[in-house]
Amino acid sequence: MALDAKTNSLEEFWMPFTDNRGFKSDPRLIVSSAGTYMTDHKGNQVIDGSSGLFCSPAGHCHPKIIEAVHVAMQDATFVSPFGTGHPLSFALAEKVARLHPDNINHVFFVNSGSEAVDTAMKIVMAYWTARGEARHRFVSRERAYHGVNIGGVSLSGLVNNRRAFPITMPNIVHMRHTFTEDELFTPGCRKGGADRAEDLQRAIDNFGGETIAAVFVEPVAGSTGVLPPPDGYLQRLREICDAHGILLVFDDVICGFGRMGGNFSSDVFGVTPDIVTMAKALTNGSIPMGAVAVSDDVYDTVIGKAPDGAIELFHGYTYSGHPAACAAGLAALTIYEEEGLFQRARDMAPYFADAMLSLRDHELVRDIRTIGMMGNVELFPHPKPGARGVLAQTKLFWNGCHVKFTGDNGIVAPMFITEKAHVDEIIGKIRKTLDELPR
Ligand SMILES: Cc1ncc(COP(=O)(O)O)c(C=O)c1O
Repeated sequence: MALDAKTNSLEEFWMPFTDNRGFKSDPRLIVSSAGTYMTDHKGNQVIDGSSGLFCSPAGHCHPKIIEAVHVAMQDATFVSPFGTGHPLSFALAEKVARLHPDNINHVFFVNSGSEAVDTAMKIVMAYWTARGEARHRFVSRERAYHGVNIGGVSLSGLVNNRRAFPITMPNIVHMRHTFTEDELFTPGCRKGGADRAEDLQRAIDNFGGETIAAVFVEPVAGSTGVLPPPDGYLQRLREICDAHGILLVFDDVICGFGRMGGNFSSDVFGVTPDIVTMAKALTNGSIPMGAVAVSDDVYDTVIGKAPDGAIELFHGYTYSGHPAACAAGLAALTIYEEEGLFQRARDMAPYFADAMLSLRDHELVRDIRTIGMMGNVELFPHPKPGARGVLAQTKLFWNGCHVKFTGDNGIVAPMFITEKAHVDEIIGKIRKTLDELPR
């Protein structure tokens, strides 16, 4: 996969969420990868400090996933998911359901986290339609990221993701985000900001609880720069939802599959949602796939209300539960289990947190937040918000480490196969890069 400037043009591919002009003048291509490392087009080794985009905890190019997909593709390269099925999708749905609380037993497959969020919004609407209640309002949060489809962008609380798209869904209410300045450099859940769960009560007081269909939150806000929920915050959201019959949706696209130290956010934080969205690590990032897991109440209500013989939910994708994705998902979940990777992540988390916090003495660092195998190094903006982050990501890459930056937040999410020496290498390369950045 060499990059040959004579035969390969970089112009035609419009890269997502990328400074296309900057990239194309200084391309950074990955031509191969294995485990924790990737190789760029110049032959340099790059350690992956963000598990790709938080999606490959078992490492790149896991041979068991490659083999499972290869085998599945020999049986069927496509099966229509509308009205027919294949065994792998049922097997994967069962395995996914077992990772969730006892009352969450039904899984709808999609192809990405964005599709999972928009699908969850439509399932919520179908639920209230089935119940004959006119609940047409969604509650979300500032600094939220729920993907890039219209529903998810409407829920979003990141201004750059909305600015160019003036027409989004109506009837979305945003609670405040939970970040406060009070406990900088404190790992895990902080105390400040817990009272912001009361913003949900304010929305109810303002609009009427009976108009609110669902609350969507990332239990740990990820893409904005890792904001763990303050102590008691998610519990309070659940209490208020229960008091008003509002559905609670956890967007676990990043938080799921062991990243926070448990299967999903429900076990990490002891709060059970009604609906969970997931993607990314579902297939170890190897094949695009997402899913929405729903409670028995949600499923039974939507299914039960439809007349006999009728399609119950007029929603689905050509590639919902594609055989290649299901094979990859089954293989990934088996690897997580057999290699004890969620436990490994739990065991490594304290070492990772200490290593992250060792950067606190650096003059460019404004805050460090960590939870499970995810952490964030937030830089003081310079000369304008986001500029230092863009430069840091590029320089860090050329120093041999990939970390995803959003604005001035570097989101570090090592793979679960990571050894202590890998953590040290990632942190060492971040420090070296910070030392080299202009003041
Ligand atoms: C919480 C959350 N929801 C949704 C998404 C969108 O996922 P995708 O990029 O697969 O569409 C992301 C992606 O980072 C995410 O972090």
